[in-house]
Amino acid sequence: MEDISNSPFRSVCKQFGADLVVSEFVSSEGLIRDAEKSRVKLTFEETERPVAIQIFGHNVESMRKAAELAEEAQPDLIDLNFGCPVRKVVKKGAGAALLKEIPRMLEIAGAVVRATRLPVTVKTRLGWDPASQPIVTLAEQLQDVGITAIAIHARTAVQLYGGQVDWRLIGEVKRNSRMHIPVFGNGDITNALVAKERMDQTGVDGLMIGRAAIGNPWIFREIRSYFLSGYIPPQPSIKERISTLQDHFRKLISYAGERRALLEFRKFYSGYFRGIPDMKPFRMRLVTATTIGEVEEILGEILDVGFQISDPGSRIPYL
Ligand SMILES: Cc1cc2nc3c(=O)[nH]c(=O)nc-3n(C[C@H](O)[C@H](O)[C@H](O)COP(=O)(O)O)c2cc1C
Repeated sequence: MEDISNSPFRSVCKQFGADLVVSEFVSSEGLIRDAEKSRVKLTFEETERPVAIQIFGHNVESMRKAAELAEEAQPDLIDLNFGCPVRKVVKKGAGAALLKEIPRMLEIAGAVVRATRLPVTVKTRLGWDPASQPIVTLAEQLQDVGITAIAIHARTAVQLYGGQVDWRLIGEVKRNSRMHIPVFGNGDITNALVAKERMDQTGVDGLMIGRAAIGNPWIFREIRSYFLSGYIPPQPSIKERISTLQDHFRKLISYAGERRALLEFRKFYSGYFRGIPDMKPFRMRLVTATTIGEVEEILGEILDVGFQISDPGSRIPYL
C-alpha cells in the first residue's frame, strides 16, 4: 500500500505472522529515472522474506527495465500492479487502466516474465466496471504468459475502495479447472471470521490483507491462530499495543528520518488504539505532536492510565 507498506510496516506485519509481504507500488518510470523516492522503495530487511517488490507503469519497455532494476535488489518476487484505480496512475494508462487494455497488460506481463528469473505475480481487480469483469478469462491469460500467482481485489476499478466487495468471481477463478497457479483473494477482510468465510466460500490459496493491518498487525496472528486451532486470541493489551507501536515508530524513524516519521505515523495511531474507548483526547494529541519526545510522553501517559481490555479471546468452532 502506497505510503503504508514500507519496510518498517512490513517488518511489523511479518513479526505477527504475515506469510508474504509486498512493497508499496514503485513507478517504473521513476525507477528508470533513478528517482530517490522510487529507489528507496526497493529496500527491505532480510527478516521480511519472502518479500515482493511491486512495480507499475504503462510502457512495456519501461516495465521490463524496471523489473530488471527491481531484481537487482534481490526480492523473492516481482509483483505487477494492474489494479490501482487512483487518478494519477490511471490517467497515465497504468494500474487498473490496463483492465481496459488487456492486450497491453498481457504484453507487459509476458515481457517482465521473460526479463527476470524471479517469479512474477499480478495484483488486479475484477474488471474496470460492472459491465466489464473479465477476471476469469484474464487470470487464465496471465497464467498463459507465465505469471506464477494472482491476487484479485474483489472490486471493479470504478468502485475505488468503497461499495460492496463481490468475491463470487474470485471463487470462479479458483474453480476454473484450467487454473493451476495460486489464487489470492483480497478485499475487506477485517478479522479472522471474515477470513475463514472467504476461504470457505472461494477455496482460494491465500488471502491478502490491506487496510485492516494498518495499526493492527495482530490481524495476522488472529487469522493464523483461528485457522490452525479455531481459537481467536484476545485483543492485544494496551502494553502490547504501545510496545509494538514504539517498535514500528522507531523503525520508521530510521527509515524515513524524524520529521517524516512524525508525519507519516499519524496514519497509524487510530489503528493501534482501535476499540479502546476514551482514547480520542490522546489520539488528538499524538497526531499534533511535533517532536518524538512529545509522542513518547503521551504514550507514557496512556500506559499510566492503563486502559483495561477485557477480551478473553474466543473459541469459535469451524462449521
Ligand atoms: C492507502 C492505500 C494504498 C494502496 N496502495 C496500493 C499499492 O501500492 N499497490 C496495490 O496493489 N494496492 C494498493 N492498495 C490497495 C490494497 O492493496 C487493497 O487491494 C485494497 O485496499 C483492498 O483490500 P483491503 O480491504 O484489505 O484494504 C492501496 C490501498 C490503500 C488504502
